[in-house]
Amino acid sequence: MNTVVLKEGVNWVGVVDWNIRDFHGYITKRGSTYNAYLISDEKIALVDTVKSNFSDELIDHITELTSLEKIDYIIVNHVEMDHSSSLPIITKLAKNAKIFSSQRGKDALIEHYGAEFNRVETVKTGDELKLGKRTLRFLEAPMLHWPDSMFTYLVEDKILMPNDAFGQHFASCGRFDDEVDGCALMEEARTYYANILTPFAPLITRKIQEVAQMGIPIDMVAPSHGVIWRKDPQKIIGAYLDWSSGAAKQKAVVVFDTMWGSTDKMARAVADGLISGGIEVKLLKLRATDNTDVVTEILDAKAVAVGSPTLNGQMFPSVGSFLTYVTGLKPKGKIWGFFGSYGWGGGAVRGMVEMAKKAGFEVYEPTIEVRYVPAKEDLKKCFDFGQQIAQKIKA
Ligand code: FEO
Repeated sequence: MNTVVLKEGVNWVGVVDWNIRDFHGYITKRGSTYNAYLISDEKIALVDTVKSNFSDELIDHITELTSLEKIDYIIVNHVEMDHSSSLPIITKLAKNAKIFSSQRGKDALIEHYGAEFNRVETVKTGDELKLGKRTLRFLEAPMLHWPDSMFTYLVEDKILMPNDAFGQHFASCGRFDDEVDGCALMEEARTYYANILTPFAPLITRKIQEVAQMGIPIDMVAPSHGVIWRKDPQKIIGAYLDWSSGAAKQKAVVVFDTMWGSTDKMARAVADGLISGGIEVKLLKLRATDNTDVVTEILDAKAVAVGSPTLNGQMFPSVGSFLTYVTGLKPKGKIWGFFGSYGWGGGAVRGMVEMAKKAGFEVYEPTIEVRYVPAKEDLKKCFDFGQQIAQKIKA
């Protein structure tokens, strides 16, 4: 793929990673992109790089527009290696370039790539770098997605380059929101938010408010993954405000795994109880559904019911994996219910409740446990459990 013009003198020089399917545990069914931008004025600036296995492609894209020796500035918005691991290669070729990052970005660059990055110059919120007719303005954005993260705003072109924020793991021929399927795009933006940015919801709300208070006009949001929002940049900003505020529907996710079908039967009865209470339900079996998709469904749900059989005195391994993942993401404001089956000693439900409480989740009690195979009256209890959670959702 060749370079793409955002506005005259502002080019996308990134790469499309069509076949990545696992992004540190996040299943990326539609691949991803690593976006880098070249701004050509009296001075030439490169904003971010790409994952190192694509560095040759980045170099080819830059070379379509200029020689690397002519790059004056390299801006490192974020040090995570999907954006910075080409930097040691690029800086050897862009011999005349000064490098800019946040202070924590500089520290992280040295820790990743060595003392040669002692020469990085640091910027903070409000600092500007003149390129000629154009100006880069910096806005620190710690924890969106790492402590070092910052946004770069191209003042005269009204383009916000917020690195990970507002991104999507979405490989496509089109580089803009108006060139791709809008439903698929929003699905990937939602999945990205749920799996990467959920823990930082309060910071996102505050950062968007801060940008709004700065009164900066935004014609385009050009993130570091996926497509560039030019048709309607406010759509993704509005969606982030909704997601970070914890806006939820009258919806519950019933997520479970099963050994011999007992917890499966219980999960179906819990789901039926919720549905009879007027709640939209997603019933998801682990080992048939990625954790990635489960947490995406949880994003706009008010309740989650988790079911597990007991295996060797503990919760089922797939349930343990899910709870490890979701307690790390810490989605706020959900009601959590737990149920399960066992043969002799039990332990799955106790273990799940302990994990959930340790993470600060609101646990609905009592829980339900069934020995061996649920009888009709056990399934009635599961149905009632679903109805009770439905009432709590509606309260
Ligand atoms: Fe796309 Fe936090 O790296």
